[in-house]
Amino acid sequence: PDTALHSSFGRALETIHSRLPPSLREPRIAIVCGSGLATLAASMREQIVIPYADLDGFANSTVSGHTSALAFGFLGAGNDIPVVAMLGRLHPYEGHPLSDVVYPIRLMALLGIKDIIITNAAGGLNPNFPIGTIVVVQDHIALPNLTGPFNALQGPVLAPPFSARFVPLSAAYSFELRKTTFRVAHALGFPRSALAEGTYAWVSGPTYETPAEGRFLRSIGGDVVGMSTVPEVVAARQAGMQVLVLSLVTNAVVIPDTYISPRDEFEAEVAGHHIPKAAAEEVTHAEVLEVGRRKAESMRALVEGIVEARAAE
Ligand code: 6GU
Repeated sequence: PDTALHSSFGRALETIHSRLPPSLREPRIAIVCGSGLATLAASMREQIVIPYADLDGFANSTVSGHTSALAFGFLGAGNDIPVVAMLGRLHPYEGHPLSDVVYPIRLMALLGIKDIIITNAAGGLNPNFPIGTIVVVQDHIALPNLTGPFNALQGPVLAPPFSARFVPLSAAYSFELRKTTFRVAHALGFPRSALAEGTYAWVSGPTYETPAEGRFLRSIGGDVVGMSTVPEVVAARQAGMQVLVLSLVTNAVVIPDTYISPRDEFEAEVAGHHIPKAAAEEVTHAEVLEVGRRKAESMRALVEGIVEARAAE
């Protein structure tokens, strides 16, 4: 066991306990807020925010659109369900080793978290998923070497509850949490098309995909693509948590059959045909954040409903 790591956990837990009232010390559910989705946590009551910088063992998260703090508070109709939210996450593309990326997840496991709801902004690969669709992730692809040789559980075996060397991922995404999600969405009156089920393809970033890479990821079964989440899922599963992932489609990666090549355009001009100029589709981080803001209220209502349903079980 890595004693330095474990003493970091111990000191971080001490800081957390020293700042929280007893009623918040055993959060029922953890929520990871993705790009533009930190407002998920806005409705938490009696919030206590602890910057990552105050916590031992945390690396600093630097992406705009992300805060860098743990927020503890109460959620749900009765204002009575203690939860913890990660406002901003760490990404491998910031230069963080995966052991740093999953450190907060492990800390939440040590806080006693049993259920974790992980959100992200993702690119749409499935042409049936319009921008704004919330994808209830049912599986992921982190192979074959899409992200280089990385896996969040590489490295020395740690002490329990992080000691499993070989972690099965055949049922990584909780069937029950996913079913609860659909039940809650229905109760909230979401149209059926607001939610989809799909597979998340993990890439390292920070570049977005080329069109050819997008087609490749689609062809191997990806429905959405993103730069986060999978290391967190893997660490959460190792620690025995139930996992739900909600991916908000913020832009389309695979654009169905609208591409007109320079040769097509040239030959059409020679033939005297008029063909409409294809709109230049280029994903920007601003666009990703904007869709996050637009859908933040739906995501918030959904997550709050799931927390309530789960706490009632
Ligand atoms: Cl298009 N690609 C990746 N890798 N991550 C994203 C995204 C696209 N849109 C939001 N996040």
